[in-house]
Amino acid sequence: MKHLSIEPSILYFGTPVALITTIDQFGHANIGPISSAWALGWTMTLGLEVASKTYQNIISTKECVVNLADHSLHQKVESLAQLTGAQHIPAYKKDRYTYEPDKFKAGGFTKMDSVQVKPPRIAECLLQMEAVLKEVMVISDDPKEKGDTAVVLVRVVKIHADESIVADDHHIDPAKWNPLIYNFRHYMELGKELGKTFKAEI
Ligand SMILES: Cc1cc2nc3c(=O)[nH]c(=O)nc-3n(C[C@H](O)[C@H](O)[C@H](O)COP(=O)(O)O)c2cc1C
Repeated sequence: MKHLSIEPSILYFGTPVALITTIDQFGHANIGPISSAWALGWTMTLGLEVASKTYQNIISTKECVVNLADHSLHQKVESLAQLTGAQHIPAYKKDRYTYEPDKFKAGGFTKMDSVQVKPPRIAECLLQMEAVLKEVMVISDDPKEKGDTAVVLVRVVKIHADESIVADDHHIDPAKWNPLIYNFRHYMELGKELGKTFKAEI
């Protein structure tokens, strides 16, 4: 083995794509695609650009839905990739992003009412987690980020899973759930199962 010292512009090492739905103070819904999302119990950590509409909406209305995209949605996700719901687009994004107030329509996604929060769910996503804001930490000194980013902690309050991926009453069947993975800016799906941990319940 020979490890090289490299300096990639991003460190997106292969995490699932989440479509974060939020509403603004007037009730207008937005979808923000992200890949920086992970869970500790029912607490979800989201990494968001401060200039994104998603961040602004979460700060203002304190709720969101974390909709997990499966592999089949990669083209729909990419159709949102250069859109922002934020009217003010910062200079570092201006040449690549366009303002789009209705990303449900732009991406061909369908709204579903949530149960415990106001932002809608995305019907096309088989796994949806309603969540409320807990804490925010703004990061202003990252050497590679052009704008401020934030670590946003949300508490999941309600989980919806399509019956096609549910193994019994309370488990997701890993053989049936095939998340869309964002792997160094390429969309991928999972390969074959290699085994399971001793904690696996099914
Ligand atoms: C697959 C994918 C993954 C992304 N991951 C992130 C992310 O983890 N955090 C983030 O802030 N932006 C991420 N982006 C960029 C956001 O989608 C972008 O900031 C966009 O402006 C968000 O939409 P909004 O401004 O309407 O909220 C990602 C985009 C794509 C297509």
